[in-house]
Amino acid sequence: MKFFVDTADIADIKEMADTGLLDGVTTNPSLIAKSGRDFMEVTKEICDLVDGPVSAEVVALDHETMMKEAETLRKIADNVCIKVPLTIDGLKTCKKLTADGTQVNVTLCFSANQALLAAKAGATFVSPFVGRHDDNGFDGMELIADIRRIYDNYDFGTEILVASIRNPVHVLQSARIGADVATMPPAVIKGLFKHVLTDKGIEGFVADWEKTGQTIPTS
Ligand code: G3P
Repeated sequence: MKFFVDTADIADIKEMADTGLLDGVTTNPSLIAKSGRDFMEVTKEICDLVDGPVSAEVVALDHETMMKEAETLRKIADNVCIKVPLTIDGLKTCKKLTADGTQVNVTLCFSANQALLAAKAGATFVSPFVGRHDDNGFDGMELIADIRRIYDNYDFGTEILVASIRNPVHVLQSARIGADVATMPPAVIKGLFKHVLTDKGIEGFVADWEKTGQTIPTS
């Protein structure tokens, strides 16, 4: 399972990239606004920090302007992945861009039928929003399982990129279902490392080791 970080904060991206476990980055207009940075500039910086795909979202709602925006965005770096909304215009844009070999992430997916359309449009990734789904009284994980089943039925190559992840349990459930990618806020990635028994175990080993008065030579 690939791990993407869902942020446009450079310090957070650096910290995650340093773990060696980061496979990509997703951004959206809200995250760019939160960063307070220039869109083109911050996207370029992110692309230089990670080798994997970096999703940068178009903001136009019509196909022609989406294509023009995508043209600008894909010139930023080879690892830019164009993010388009799950609309007719978005999917038209997806079809054209992927036919040209450009990576496309179809975002704002809230139903299995929408995911089916994204796959038919040749999307590299589809982004179902599980947190927002749960918030509105639906079962986000049921959606992921449905999409997995449908994609497997037809051998679609589109990767299921679980988005709007709110906690480590969302990651665990996505992995059990066999989702391809989880994009997470930095706090959720950090949460995956944590276990109270790990902390307690380290505390015990450190205390016992100190009693031995020994050190492990480091040079
Ligand atoms: O990048 C899209 C998605 O992950 C947004 O998450 O928390 O705003 O629903 P959220």
